[in-house]
Amino acid sequence: MEQGGNSMMIDLSFCREQFPALKQKIGEYPAAFLDGPGGTQVPQSVIDAITDYLIRCNSNTHGAFRTSALTDDVIRAAREAMKDMLGARSSDEIAFGQNMTTLNFAVARALARGAKEGQEVVATEMDHHANIDPWRTLQDYGFVFRQVRFDPASCTLDLDDLKQKLSPKTRLVAVGYASNAVGTVNDVKEIVRMAHEVGALALVDAVHYAPHGPIDVADLDCDFLLCSAYKFFGPHVGVLYCKKEVGDVLSPFKVAPQDEAMPYKFETGTLNHEGIAGVTAAIDFIASLGEPWEAQMDGLSGLTGRRRSVVAGMRAIESHEQPLLARLLEGLSSIPGVRVYGPPPGHPRTPTVSFTVAGHAPCEVAKFLGERGLFVWDGDFYATTLVKRLGLYETGGLVRVGLAPYNTPDEIERLLSAVAHLVSSGR
Ligand SMILES: Cc1ncc(COP(=O)(O)O)c(C=O)c1O
Repeated sequence: MEQGGNSMMIDLSFCREQFPALKQKIGEYPAAFLDGPGGTQVPQSVIDAITDYLIRCNSNTHGAFRTSALTDDVIRAAREAMKDMLGARSSDEIAFGQNMTTLNFAVARALARGAKEGQEVVATEMDHHANIDPWRTLQDYGFVFRQVRFDPASCTLDLDDLKQKLSPKTRLVAVGYASNAVGTVNDVKEIVRMAHEVGALALVDAVHYAPHGPIDVADLDCDFLLCSAYKFFGPHVGVLYCKKEVGDVLSPFKVAPQDEAMPYKFETGTLNHEGIAGVTAAIDFIASLGEPWEAQMDGLSGLTGRRRSVVAGMRAIESHEQPLLARLLEGLSSIPGVRVYGPPPGHPRTPTVSFTVAGHAPCEVAKFLGERGLFVWDGDFYATTLVKRLGLYETGGLVRVGLAPYNTPDEIERLLSAVAHLVSSGR
């Protein structure tokens, strides 16, 4: 580990060595994974945990024999790890599923069951559609669906508009922690407070935020929070946090023999056990980035064990990513014809930067960069409403660069020179 100024930085070469995928090349170019918001790479420890599960524990749950008991242990351990990652009070508040989208539809269907005439549900124009369409679907069950305005000029949510859309009829407010398209971090604590003030439930989509900063569900006081392990160095597994007292009175769609208790009532069928084994390893990886710094880091008092290390790890990740973000923003903004989208300077944001290049469709830019080993996304990233509000839907959306703890200053410079080259070559 190395210390950069006042911040606790991760040791980049130590971190990179753990990710076998980073050794890939595209022709002569080393692969630069700048596609993190679509899914991060995984460390060897995650791969080992998945393999070990399949070799040693592979079974269904609740059997009277060893591999089944080991499977129960693996799932129990992963719930504990997610509890530590999210700051939940109990591992009974953690459910696993196929992905965030599927779990969010399950929460929405559970809410539909108890629907009363005239109830309302509020989502945003800013979010990934995985946190819009499950709530829009509630119109089929008599709910009024409302959408909070996204301000395209500042790339932020209009909280005055949220205030106007809330009323005692509001049953739930669904909001993203951070935008997967433009990186804006929302004031979710305030939004949860506003929802609770009118007696509504509050649900947070933390899929994009989770790899970039510490999450504390107890402090946010949200009723639900969803994320996906494949965005934070793990396998393809969805995670639902549901406040115990809220989950206890909900009735998700489930088969009769399945346990009625939290969190099992949200888990349909046999889970992805090997993936769940990898979830624990992914969280231990984040904790390992924090462990060397814990003794020196402020703001960890009251935290113990792995929770403390995870929070420290997320802070170390922030300390690595935010300076790279600053260089990326500054570099892109100085290239003629490049327009960067995102919140104003000083507004909290993830290290996710989206832009357009005059005269070049986003897919063309992404292809040009991809051929040079620079992996970036293009399109609307399912934040389709936001991209429409920016007026970019018809022209192919945005080019999106997302940073992870394994990205290097050199990769940022390579990206900036490649974009500058594309612009100046007049291709
Ligand atoms: C912000 C956000 N929410 C939700 C999702 C959907 O997650 P999942 O693929 O786990 O369904 C994504 C996926 O990219 C996302 O970025």
